[in-house]
Amino acid sequence: MKRYKALLITGASAGIGKEIAYALAPQTDNIVLVARRADKLEALAKDLSVRFGVKAYALPADLSVSGSATQVFDKTIELVGRPPDLLVNDAGVGFSGEASEIPTESEVKMITLNVESLMVLCKLALKPMYARRSGVILNVASVAGFQPGPYMAAYYASKAFVLSYSEALAEEARPYGVRVLTLCPGTVDTEFHFFASSKRGYLRNLLSSSPQSVAWEAARAILLGFPERIVPGIVNKAVLLAERLLPRFVVTRLTGKFLDPRK
Ligand SMILES: NC(=O)c1ccc[n+]([C@@H]2O[C@H](COP(=O)([O-])OP(=O)(O)OC[C@H]3O[C@@H](n4cnc5c(N)ncnc54)[C@H](OP(=O)(O)O)[C@@H]3O)[C@@H](O)[C@H]2O)c1
Repeated sequence: MKRYKALLITGASAGIGKEIAYALAPQTDNIVLVARRADKLEALAKDLSVRFGVKAYALPADLSVSGSATQVFDKTIELVGRPPDLLVNDAGVGFSGEASEIPTESEVKMITLNVESLMVLCKLALKPMYARRSGVILNVASVAGFQPGPYMAAYYASKAFVLSYSEALAEEARPYGVRVLTLCPGTVDTEFHFFASSKRGYLRNLLSSSPQSVAWEAARAILLGFPERIVPGIVNKAVLLAERLLPRFVVTRLTGKFLDPRK
């Protein structure tokens, strides 16, 4: 018997989300794959069902539109006949540059995607999970959630929300037997950086992890139930430790130097 009945995963068409779908598909009866690119979701659904015998559904949706998360949740229940007992909120984008220059509409949509849709899906999933006294949510934050990020200010702030919100939910959910985990990757080699127009450099290449390794670490934490905060890679753990020892303004200044697209 598989461990989960229904996995709902956003951001499944590429990168970390796609790899998490592969890592968790053997553990679930149904998997609902959400992102905008329908062709990629359909190809993935086909591959997952052939390889793992899972019922896989492609559910194309733009989660940067207010109200879409509720539609996705309702449609998931329609497809699999029940609410998810495993929810992975992975979909996210970022934009790089001076806050005054990045188009406002792009960043407002980013906040809807990274913050609002994630929060709405958590709220919708928690009630039925509490009623059944079981379930797991994995929210994808970032090491960016731990400090301000000049030149990616709104993205870093959105991930600070995800981190804080998820850790607070974990505390609320524990008495109900429901677990809320937070994945905080460092730099991962995905399309994210292309869409974010973020800087490529020697340091970033050196620190990059593969989406597969990050996904497997997240999947292992889900199956074991710990750690609640997953920071993949020894270098990322060391950086976070160092950041705790430095004054916050120093960390902000150094982060700005690292992210400044002109340098
Ligand atoms: N890569 C990194 O260095 C890194 C580091 C820390 C945290 N993260 C976080 O990890 C998560 C996954 O990123 P990734 O690196 O795997 O990037 P990615 O390869 O670009 O994947 C992003 C996923 O989100 C989906 N998505 C984007 N906009 C969407 C929208 N409006 N509605 C629905 N789905 C949307 C994309 O699919 P469609 O384009 O088909 O919609 C794709 O499946 C993000 O939350 C990101 O913030 C990434």
